Amino acid sequence: MNILILGSGGREHAFAYKLSQSKKINKLFVAPGNAGTDAIATNIAINATDFDAVKKVVLENDVNMVVVGPEAPLVDGVHDFFLSDDALKSIPVIGPKKDGALLEGSKDFSKQFMQKHNIPTAQYQSFTKDTLEDGFAFLETLQAPYVLKADGLAAGKGVLILNSLEEAKKELSEMLTNEKFGSASATVVIEEFLDGIELSVFVLTDGKSYKVLPSAKDYKRIGEGDTGLNTGGMGAISPVPFADEDFLTKVEDRIIKPTVDGLQKDGIDYRGFIFIGLMNVNGNPFVIEYNVRMGDPETEVVLPRIDSDLLDLFEGVANQNLAEKSFEVTSKTATTVMLVSGGYPEAYEKGKTISGFESIDDSIVFHAGTKKDNDSVVSNGGRVMAITSFGDTITEALTTSYKNIDKISFEKMNYRKDIGFDLK
Ligand code: AMP
Ligand code: GLY
Repeated sequence: MNILILGSGGREHAFAYKLSQSKKINKLFVAPGNAGTDAIATNIAINATDFDAVKKVVLENDVNMVVVGPEAPLVDGVHDFFLSDDALKSIPVIGPKKDGALLEGSKDFSKQFMQKHNIPTAQYQSFTKDTLEDGFAFLETLQAPYVLKADGLAAGKGVLILNSLEEAKKELSEMLTNEKFGSASATVVIEEFLDGIELSVFVLTDGKSYKVLPSAKDYKRIGEGDTGLNTGGMGAISPVPFADEDFLTKVEDRIIKPTVDGLQKDGIDYRGFIFIGLMNVNGNPFVIEYNVRMGDPETEVVLPRIDSDLLDLFEGVANQNLAEKSFEVTSKTATTVMLVSGGYPEAYEKGKTISGFESIDDSIVFHAGTKKDNDSVVSNGGRVMAITSFGDTITEALTTSYKNIDKISFEKMNYRKDIGFDLK
């Protein structure tokens, strides 16, 4: 089969890495890709949200399946675009249509979905500019800290957690009346604060059955000890030690089954990944958010642990016979540590030559923000590379990742030295 992956980050390199191992793969394309995907697939320099350009690539290259990495093309309707085009409609897209993508594209929609299907989540109410005063009144009924979420996509920045009522009211006004996050904050969800430890589970579904992929925990803050600004993710670990069988059974019974059933009941034909962000509150799972794609850098630890053929699983999603597909996961632990540009997640420079990664053979070097520049590889984003290793324990896997990071350098390279600190 000829496969096209949309996206350019570490997640997409991990997809390409895994799909390139499939016995069923013929040609693999990544659009736009990075220097890492360039080494194992053919990069095509188009924007993943330019659907006409995607169409051209698919038809010119006899692509048989499209795997969508990021949420933007899904929320914009890339899957619907395929289904509405005679030349494309028989080509499966891994990723939901617009209706399913609303689970990520609208916090208000996802909260209503959870409430309707009795899926445990924080209590909430939604407000608009016209109901600002009601929003203030609702805040007064809650205890600090206060959680405010822009309804729409806000590049991962739309959630505010505030310690005082005064600040919460001020931010609510900013979001609703001053469009702090543009149209994304025209509606704001205010919810109860959940006190616990976060983790994520990932589900691959064909709309009828599902496979529960390995759990993972990512480290979102820039600074050691989980301090400082939020980032896209500075590292990840899989499996999550506290997500034991008992906890994961609760997750499956209370969250995964009702989610997949709920989508079906609501007439949403969902084919793709569901990333479920969870809070473990005293041993009970609550949903913080759904994403309609895999996580980054979680994919860089989740996919390497899957022993089964990923393309075979994707065919199961496309043909709705996922239940028949074999699904094996290694018991080994995988860790990944993200190398980032100095200054990230604020302003940073690109175009720094990266050296030392080519000779690494006991970690997997996933490129995130990189590109080729003549014969060298240079940085091309805030998150630059994710160094994934296996081990019998978290410590063993991390020791390998950090040993190999010592060999890599680029100007102003930064990374967290304490990934997994809370789990060891
Ligand atoms: P989200 O974009 O919904 O994942 O929110 C971003 C981050 O805010 C999450 O990863 C959590 O750390 C935190 N968060 C979101 N909702 C809550 C909540 N109800 N209680 C506590 N923390 C939350
Ligand atoms: N690492 C978090 C995310 O992909 O949303």
